[in-house]
Amino acid sequence: MGISIILDDVWKIFISDRVSIEALRGISLEIPHDRNFVSIVGPSGSGKTTLLSLIAGLFRPTRGSIKVGDYILTEMSNSQLLDFRRKHIGFVFQNFLLIPYMNVLDNLTYPASMINSCSGDECTKKAVNILIDLGIGDKASRMPGELSGGEKQRVAIARALMKDPSIILADEPTGELDHKTASNIIKIFKKLSMRGIKVILATHDELIVRESDMIIYLLDGKVRKITYQ
Ligand SMILES: Nc1ncnc2c1ncn2[C@@H]1O[C@H](COP(=O)(O)OP(=O)(O)OP(=O)(O)O)[C@@H](O)[C@H]1O
Ligand SMILES: [Mg+2]
Repeated sequence: MGISIILDDVWKIFISDRVSIEALRGISLEIPHDRNFVSIVGPSGSGKTTLLSLIAGLFRPTRGSIKVGDYILTEMSNSQLLDFRRKHIGFVFQNFLLIPYMNVLDNLTYPASMINSCSGDECTKKAVNILIDLGIGDKASRMPGELSGGEKQRVAIARALMKDPSIILADEPTGELDHKTASNIIKIFKKLSMRGIKVILATHDELIVRESDMIIYLLDGKVRKITYQ
């Protein structure tokens, strides 16, 4: 059975140059255990990235509670939060954040071995299988700078998969890709969601929205509406 995510009156207020910015203003919602392909949509500045980061435990809300499966993130210490993130969350950042001086294979095995999710040959075998699964098995020895945008995106997804995450969160995963590459990436996320991984995507992409089984619409830091399909 999948995991559910529950947010109760979540606020995030950033202080920047002594000005406070209310990025999220009282978000309450539940992503049920059986909704595994979720989009967060809304205009620029509506709070999508902030919401995604809070669910990932990348930072804490100013107020309110966040429960992911059995974990109440807002009651956990920093080290517990770090541990939660390492074990359960695969985050695919908007700009990929690949290590430029390591080849594709090392970009996967190095972070995984750092958090002891695998070691040595076991890591290599796992990485190669994931790369093949994502259709870039032949790119293992390439450097990130030698890859196309869609290939980099797949490497970033592959890296997130190395730790067998229960949740994958991705910020605008198709933002800079052409239509064909974007639809391939969406197919990959869809396949993962059907394997039981919870996939949550912040996006402007209508193609992703169409494939989602739950769509959270944000406006000015609040939930405007939620639809299911
Ligand atoms: N670290 C930060 N410090 C100050 N303000 C921030 C910070 N991060 C986000 N904000 C502000 O919070 C609001 C929500 O930002 P967020 O990045 O979540 O929006 P978004 O919906 O992801 O937008 P986009 O579609 O442009 O990516 C914006 O007004 C933004 O300027
Ligand atoms: Mg954003």
